[in-house]
Amino acid sequence: MEQHIADLLAHPKVRETRDHMHHRIAKHDHLLRSVKFSARFARLLRADERICVRAAIIHDIDSRLGTLRTHGAVAARWAADQGEPHEVCAAIISHMYPLGPAPTTREGWVLVLADKAASFGDLTQYLRGLVNGTSQANRRRLQLSDPYYRERSTRRRRQRLRERILGNLLLRRRQIRARIGH
Ligand SMILES: [Fe+2]
Ligand SMILES: [Fe+2]
Repeated sequence: MEQHIADLLAHPKVRETRDHMHHRIAKHDHLLRSVKFSARFARLLRADERICVRAAIIHDIDSRLGTLRTHGAVAARWAADQGEPHEVCAAIISHMYPLGPAPTTREGWVLVLADKAASFGDLTQYLRGLVNGTSQANRRRLQLSDPYYRERSTRRRRQRLRERILGNLLLRRRQIRARIGH
């Protein structure tokens, strides 16, 4: 299974998912879990294992650039730009079914099932980690390393600052008005 995706595992775009949050855990964990389930389901459904595991390791790349329905197309476009075959891209596009388009290939169905099973595994990993504190620690680490959360906390800080400045201005105006008797 690993031999099918060795190049992708070394790709910076896949490696950076170690620092991105997805289902409250590292996105890389979700991708690897999806690969594992894809290999298993590919054998069960007699689908092409190589296509399935390549689609699985890519399927949520750049997911924040799309919505729940469209991020499959975002990842599929990235895959196509990397020269992945049509079968890999087609499986990625439909991985969110029934949200978004239905799979058109056996490999597409494998990824739909593998992604759902992996998501359940992600939740189990997160809940288990709550007991010994690793989930909270991971979440804190990912909130610092994930650009989305970094930007979000910067936005919130700026918003708080704006509110404080506006509050001070309103207070000042009220004080001035009270002084001049309005
Ligand atoms: Fe997804
Ligand atoms: Fe996923």
